[in-house]
Amino acid sequence: MKTTVTHAGLVAVVTLVLSACGGDDPVAAPPDSLVPLAADADGATVYQARCASCHGEDLRGTDKGPSQLSIVYEPNHHGDDSYRSAISNGTAQHHWSFGNMPAVEDITDDQIEHVITYIRTQQQKLGFEQ
Ligand code: HEC
Repeated sequence: MKTTVTHAGLVAVVTLVLSACGGDDPVAAPPDSLVPLAADADGATVYQARCASCHGEDLRGTDKGPSQLSIVYEPNHHGDDSYRSAISNGTAQHHWSFGNMPAVEDITDDQIEHVITYIRTQQQKLGFEQ
């Protein structure tokens, strides 16, 4: 009997946590604490601090976000403006099933431009994957 009550309690807590995150839509969880960034941080530093936890230190993705080397992200399909928008506003899950991308917090306009340049350079250097 005691076990049943504990189990029911757990289910209630899990349900509460899920609904606090916006119902049925999965949301990729941002890192708990963001590393502070210098105002003039370069693109690689911004990427590792603000994007790598989901898109991977090597840009090849994690279980929380897609590879930035996917052909889906080549510039004619996702131009720099879609990068600016995804970083500033987040994006609803549509290409994959990792969940929604939350808006990236604590990032300046300069840092956004630096990180886009960094990703584009890496995409050219490493090449796109199918
Ligand atoms: C908390 C996890 C997370 C973080 C942090 C994150 N992203 Fe994402 N991002 C995602 C997920 C998940 C998607 C896939 C959404 C989908 O299904 O299309 C995505 C998609 C994108 C897209 C595609 C947007 C579109 O219009 O389809 C771009 C561009 C992008 N991310 C860039 C970045 C950059 C640059 C950073 C760092 C400044 C970053 N992301 C940080 C999870 C994250």
